[in-house]
Amino acid sequence: MWDDRYATDEYRFGTQPNRFLEDCASLLPPAARILSLGEGEGRNAVYLAGLGFDVTAVDASAVGLAKARQLAQERGVTLTTITADLNDYPIEAAAWDVIINFFCHMPEPERAPLHQRVIAGLKPGGAYILEVFSPQQPQFGSGGPTTRDLLMSVEDTRRELTGLDLRIVRELIRHRDDDDPSTPLVAVLQVLALKI
Ligand SMILES: C[S@@+](CC[C@H](N)C(=O)[O-])C[C@H]1O[C@@H](n2cnc3c(N)ncnc32)[C@H](O)[C@@H]1O
Repeated sequence: MWDDRYATDEYRFGTQPNRFLEDCASLLPPAARILSLGEGEGRNAVYLAGLGFDVTAVDASAVGLAKARQLAQERGVTLTTITADLNDYPIEAAAWDVIINFFCHMPEPERAPLHQRVIAGLKPGGAYILEVFSPQQPQFGSGGPTTRDLLMSVEDTRRELTGLDLRIVRELIRHRDDDDPSTPLVAVLQVLALKI
């Protein structure tokens, strides 16, 4: 499905990084080893690589990751890309300073086990940064999944990320990254969690 969506010269989600990621980036340790889950066409991974981080991007879409490599080349930065289904991708244990997940919506029976592997994959002191649509999103008509099991709440976060120190966990209504005037608002969950 995503290969078809990405099969265009346009960058579906643009080439600018997510704003919550930009807000968090200054908190990250220099030269951090970062794993991006469901990276898509590379807007966030390329941004982080441009800040000097060592970034590995995983996505099921080979087409999306080819565009990510193209964007990296245009910006003069280096990325590692891995085409894989996150249900099968073995996250290396205690290996990552930072793991990010932006809008990679998986059903709860797949997401919860993935989150167990995210927790195991972080080094002590490592950070998990996530922004996904919250259960309020369908009422805004501005895209994203419409079924509850693909959306994520504060309560879901507390249940799935047990053992992490939840420094930021909030549901909020914000403007879209692309500021589309016809459907300008989105309902999201933002998380910054540290492995103690
Ligand atoms: C809405 S896009 C977000 C892309 C990117 N993170 C961004 O914010 O621009 C969701 C991405 O998650 C990927 N994805 C969804 N389920 C996946 C899975 N089970 N394994 C790997 N990638 C997955 C899709 O291929 C797609 O690129």
